[in-house]
Amino acid sequence: MILTYKDIDYEKIWQDSLKCRKGYAKERAFNDNVEREFWKGLSRIYDNQPTLYDYSKEVYNFVKSLIDTNKSLIEIGPGTGKFTIPLSEKCSDITAIDFSRHMLNVLMEKSKILGINNILPIEGKWEDVAINETDYILSVNSLYRIFDIKAALKKMNIVAKEKVIIVRTIQKPIFNNLYLKLGLEDKTCLDYIYLPNILHSLNICADIKYMNVQYEIEFNNRESIYYKIKEEIGYIPNENIIEDYINENFKRSNKKYIFLHKTKVEIIYWETTKN
Ligand SMILES: C[S@@+](CC[C@H](N)C(=O)[O-])C[C@H]1O[C@@H](n2cnc3c(N)ncnc32)[C@H](O)[C@@H]1O
Repeated sequence: MILTYKDIDYEKIWQDSLKCRKGYAKERAFNDNVEREFWKGLSRIYDNQPTLYDYSKEVYNFVKSLIDTNKSLIEIGPGTGKFTIPLSEKCSDITAIDFSRHMLNVLMEKSKILGINNILPIEGKWEDVAINETDYILSVNSLYRIFDIKAALKKMNIVAKEKVIIVRTIQKPIFNNLYLKLGLEDKTCLDYIYLPNILHSLNICADIKYMNVQYEIEFNNRESIYYKIKEEIGYIPNENIIEDYINENFKRSNKKYIFLHKTKVEIIYWETTKN
C-alpha cells in the first residue's frame, strides 16, 4: 500500500495526542472545571514568573511587526495580558477572549491602572464564542486544549479580515536531553508540527518562522534537581549519568545551580482568504 500525504489525518493525530495525555495533564485537557481551577490558582502569581513575553522580546517584536498600526485585534487566550497590554498601544482595539475569568480579571485590573481603555474582555472559549469580524487574530500558547482544532482554525480564517498569527513555544521537559541520553523516548510536544499540516489540509499555506528562546531555571541544591527528574520520569536513573549531566549543564551561582533551558518558538502566520 502506498501512503500519500493526504492519507494522514493530522487533526486525528492532534486529537489522539490530547487523549494520550496522562493524569492531571489529561484532566486539564478534557475537564473544564480542572482547567478553570488551574488558571484561578495561577492568575495572581502568573506575572511573577517569566514566561515567553519576558524572556523573548524578539518574539514580541516580531509579532508586533506583523500587525499594522490602528487595526482591530482579537487575542485568543491573552491570560494576564503580557502581549495584550503592549499591543494595545498599536491596535485600535483588542477583544481579549479567555476561558479563565480569573486571568481576565488580572488583565483588566492592570489595564485600568495603566489607563488603557481599548481592551474588551470576553470570557469564553474561542471555539464557542460568537464574534464579529476583526482585522487580526493572535494566539500565544493558547490552542493547547482545543479538540476540534480544524474548526477553530477555520473560524480564525473567517473572522480575521487580514491576518492570523499563532505563536507556539515548543514544549519539552527541561531535562529532555538527559532523558534522551538515558534511552528514554523524546517527550517533545509535537503539536507545532501538526498545526501547519492541519492548516495545509484547509488549503492554508502559512508562513512559519522559528526563533530560539532560552531562560534560566534555578535549583537550590542537587537534591532539588534529583527531585525534578523523579517528578518528570517517575524514578531516579543511573546516578553517574546524572552527575555528569549536572557537571556539564549547570552553572553555579551563590551556591545555587542554574540550568539554561533552550527551546524554539514557532510563529505561524497567514493572510486570510475567504474563498
Ligand atoms: C499559557 S496561557 C498564555 C497566556 C498569554 N497568551 C501569555 O502568553 O502570557 C494560556 C491562556 O489561554 C487561555 N485558554 C486556554 N484555552 C482557551 C480557549 N480554548 N479559548 C480561549 N482561551 C483559552 C487560558 O485560560 C490561559 O489564560
